[in-house]
Amino acid sequence: MSTTNTYRGNPDAIRALVRDTEVHKDTYIDQELFELEMEHLFANTWVYVGHASQVPNKGDYYTTTVGTEPVVMVRHTDDSIRVLYNRCPHKGVKVAGEVCGNTGKFFRCPYHAWTFKTDGSLLAIPLKKGYENTGFENCEASQGMAPVKNVKVYRDFVFCRLNPGGPSFEEYFGESLSTIDNMVDRSPEGKLEVAGGVLRYMHNCNWKMLVDNQTDTCHPMVAHESSAGTAVRVWNEAPEGTPKPMAVELFAPFMSPYEFFEGMGIRVWENGHGHTGVSNSIHAAYSAIPGYWEQMVAAYGEDRAHQILGDVRHNTVYWPNIMIKGPIQTLRLFKPIAADKTLVESWTFRLVGAPDMLLERTTMYNRLINAPTSVVGHDDLEMYERAQEGLHARGRDWINVGRLYDPAEKDQKNVVTNGTNEMQMRAQFRAWLKYMTESM
Ligand code: FES
Ligand SMILES: [Fe+2]
Repeated sequence: MSTTNTYRGNPDAIRALVRDTEVHKDTYIDQELFELEMEHLFANTWVYVGHASQVPNKGDYYTTTVGTEPVVMVRHTDDSIRVLYNRCPHKGVKVAGEVCGNTGKFFRCPYHAWTFKTDGSLLAIPLKKGYENTGFENCEASQGMAPVKNVKVYRDFVFCRLNPGGPSFEEYFGESLSTIDNMVDRSPEGKLEVAGGVLRYMHNCNWKMLVDNQTDTCHPMVAHESSAGTAVRVWNEAPEGTPKPMAVELFAPFMSPYEFFEGMGIRVWENGHGHTGVSNSIHAAYSAIPGYWEQMVAAYGEDRAHQILGDVRHNTVYWPNIMIKGPIQTLRLFKPIAADKTLVESWTFRLVGAPDMLLERTTMYNRLINAPTSVVGHDDLEMYERAQEGLHARGRDWINVGRLYDPAEKDQKNVVTNGTNEMQMRAQFRAWLKYMTESM
């Protein structure tokens, strides 16, 4: 096995990369495999685009990427959300150039002023006469900007699947949607809004390292010792009776011992989805926010409010590339750029109708843990970059994902197990293999 062009059209070579408890280093460092991931994995699965609250009014748009494809999410004149490939059918220019804005009733390409309705269809061309009798109506360009046909808005989270074939949204995510449900239900009005600004952070590593890390429960007490451990030591020296700062509440659980992470459990669903924090989590012991519980009881009744707020899941991976934290209302998006480059976006949400202090806690968590200026985020980044470099060493070819492996697990669909089990990582690679080889 080598790192030179051996994988395209060669599913057997790809199958040989994933063993029961090991994966080959090429899955993280080979650029050809990265390109195949874009064509097969990212095009055939349901990938997160954005949140409906980013485009509340007709004509509002947001530009982003699905895999490495430029797309624009836009609120059409009929109020539905459309996702279009952001590419002018004339000469290929990205039609929407800003990150977000309002385009009115149509997009106008900045190169030759062709215009398109917000469903992508061609509206007008300057000097249209020049195309008469040229067979223009049979050209691709006459069809306007290409829409992504499979778009699903689930409780305001917008996903799409680029290819026409493949699993339905419900089949693909199944029971894992319960994490999104729980995050939305934490609003007394059952509604979320993007708020607080997104944090963007470039990582010189493969996108899968970030995804793996979300359920890697054997690293916090080691890799975050220098940041979270320092916070705990400083706090321990505070005079008795000092009110506990919000930042300490957020940092300290990272230093929980192995037994805590073992006990909190992990749940592994199908298709690479899963979450840590089944019976407990690092988000379980935050102090109550005044007035919130009363609002939740008024909205849902006491039993249901208990059920919603008692579900304190830690990290939920929606394979391939987002992670959601329900109890802290954040979403992290790992945008693949190259085999060794990933843009990480960390989004925060307001629970509509809930006290402002919840958003304050959410944005503080995001700044402390996920920002480019965060002390905790740098711990992880250093590990990813060291791994990305270390994997090029010749002496070893395999990465171990065998912790608590059980041969029976392959046929199981919804498993709750020891929180330090690497079963979720293995399940992600089983999904990886399926989508990488199925449509080849
Ligand atoms: S490239 Fe868009 S109008 Fe010419
Ligand atoms: Fe970490």
